[in-house]
Order: sequence, then C-alpha cells, then structure tokens
Amino acid sequence: MPSFEKCLVTGGAGFIGSNLADELIRSGREVRIVDNFSTGFRENLEEIDGSFDFVEGDLNDETVLSKAVEGIEAIFHQAALPSVPRSVEDPVGTHEACASATLRLLTKAKDAGVRRFVYAASSSAYGDQPVLPKVETMAPDPLSPYAAAKLMGEHYCSVFYRIYGLETVSLRYFNVFGPRQNPSSMYSGVISRFIDALMKGGAPVIFGDGEQSRDFTYIANVVNANIRAAEIADGFGETYNAANGERTTLNQLLEVLKRITDRADAAADHQPPRKGDVLHSQADNSKAVEVLGYKNLVGLEEGLRNTIEWWKNSRFADDVR
Ligand SMILES: NC(=O)c1ccc[n+]([C@@H]2O[C@H](COP(=O)([O-])OP(=O)(O)OC[C@H]3O[C@@H](n4cnc5c(N)ncnc54)[C@H](O)[C@@H]3O)[C@@H](O)[C@H]2O)c1
Repeated sequence: MPSFEKCLVTGGAGFIGSNLADELIRSGREVRIVDNFSTGFRENLEEIDGSFDFVEGDLNDETVLSKAVEGIEAIFHQAALPSVPRSVEDPVGTHEACASATLRLLTKAKDAGVRRFVYAASSSAYGDQPVLPKVETMAPDPLSPYAAAKLMGEHYCSVFYRIYGLETVSLRYFNVFGPRQNPSSMYSGVISRFIDALMKGGAPVIFGDGEQSRDFTYIANVVNANIRAAEIADGFGETYNAANGERTTLNQLLEVLKRITDRADAAADHQPPRKGDVLHSQADNSKAVEVLGYKNLVGLEEGLRNTIEWWKNSRFADDVR
C-alpha cells in the first residue's frame, strides 16, 4: 500500500514531470498534472501511459492553484523556467515562474492540508566554487537569476516546514537527461542538443573549450529519488543532492555519443562561453544515498542509449525520416 495515493505533478508536460507522472501512474497512484505549456509540450502528455487529471494554467493564478491542489496528499513541484541563459535575458519572468510560483504553491498546499511537498531544486545553487564534489553543507553561491530564484524556492520549502510543518524535501538535481528532454532550442540541456545535432548529421555546439564538466544523471534515477522523498519518515525541510556523484567533461560526453551514434566524423562547433554557466559540477550524493536510499539505477552510457532510441521515434526525428 503506497504511503500516498493522490498526487500533483507541477510542470507535468515538461521533461522531468512527464517521466515522473508515468512512474507514479505505473505504481498505482492517482495523478493530477498542472502545466501552462510555457516550456512543456502536449506531446509529452500524450506519451504518458495511463490516465491522469490535467489542469491547464499558470501556478501564479489563484483559480488554477485551487483546482490543482484540491484533495492532494503529495506534491511534486517540477514547474519552472529551467534555463540559465533565459534567466539572464528575462530575470523577472524567471523569478515569477521559479520563486513566486513556488511560494504561492507552498501557501496553497499548507492551507489545503497537503502532507508532503517535494521540490525540484537545482545544483546551480552551488555556483562555481572550486571545491568538488559539491556537498549540501557548502554555502550557496548562485551565479545567475535562475540559480537565485531556484535557491529562493529551497529556502521557502525549508521555512514552510519549520513554521507550518509542511513536510518539504528539496532535491538538488544536477544535469538530468533522458527521453522527452526538448533538444530544439539554445535553452535546452546539452545532451539533448548533442544527440539532436549528431543524429541530424550536424555539428554539436559547445560553449567554451568543452573541458567544463557535469554530473549527468539519467531521468530514472531522479524519478526514483522523488518517489523516495515522498515516502521517507523524517529529514524534512532539508536539501539533498540527487545525482550520481560522477563527473564527465563535455568533450568526453561527445566522444561517447559519437561512438554510439556512429558519427566518428563529427567535430564540435565551439562558441564563446555563456554568461552565468558554471565550469565544473559534481555531487556528493552520500546524504541522498543514506536518507533517501538514492540509487544509480541507470548509468551514463545506458541512459544515453535509451535517450537516442527515444529520439529516433520522436517528433524531433521527423525531418530526417
Ligand atoms: N533538467 C535538468 O537537468 C534540471 C536540473 C536542475 C533542476 N531542474 C529543475 O527540474 C524541474 C523540471 O525541469 P525540466 O528539465 O523537466 O524542464 P521543462 O521545461 O521540461 O519542464 C518545466 C515545466 O514547467 C511548466 N511551467 C513552467 N512555469 C509554469 C507555471 N508558472 N505554471 C505552470 N507550469 C509551468 C513548463 O510548461 C514545463 O512543462 C525544474 O524545476 C528545473 O528547475 C532541472
């Protein structure tokens, strides 16, 4: 018998939210999704296997919030405008979607008697501190409006536990990748952009020399961390690194992808580094392993192969079919 039945996934038309909704439905939960399609897609909802309620609208809209939260036991808050460059261009828009929406949702959740609130936090909170791996006890140092707004959400989660007893858990994702990640814009995650470029015979764009590194985490691992976070019996009001604890440079990543896609010929298109991007990122995941039972269920290469298989049958492959 699951410890929670009725759950809300915000941002469920997005990459992580739609994969999470899939797993929640598969495990027998009743799922409601709320999304305003600012960066999400109807196609992602259509790919979800099973039935769910859907509320279309913005989390900053009171009517939408009321409909979304009614009768819910656990909230998985994935909605955000998840992009550093976008936040540099539009800091206010990012603040509204990341920080204000989180505060409004927390307030509504508390008032409606929701028990558990799992928040998609971001490793961007660590900034560019030279110490690796990044551990939760390090002082945050956000470098972009996106990082600042996401960190604000974490602080509100912590305060809502301390003041109101809402059982919040913040999961700091490092670079998550997998099926349904949108490869089609400069705001997209690097793995989805690399795969799209390689599969279309193009040159993957690298901002900088490619020696920057990331802790790439396959979607199934993050989905599992979310479900564990909704089931734990204590450890609320706290933040956990949800990542594999490994580090791969973009140049290394590209070599693996070139091998898997048979594109040994492909050369990177190097562009100037982007403002606000951090150089290196790697998680110390021991707190998540200990408290959440975090597991590296799917490693980098297997995850990349799964993502490429999905891409081949996705709408993004249409123009090469
Ligand atoms: N993908 C990563 O590597 C990564 C890393 C760190 C943190 N995160 C966090 O994980 C979460 C999910 O990211 P993703 O990669 O799935 O992004 P995504 O863009 O695919 O999904 C975000 C979803 O939220 C929806 N949304 C945005 N603002 C909304 C609002 N005001 N009201 C209703 N819906 C709204 C969008 O339409 C979209 O469907 C985000 O909170 C992001 O900050 C992601």
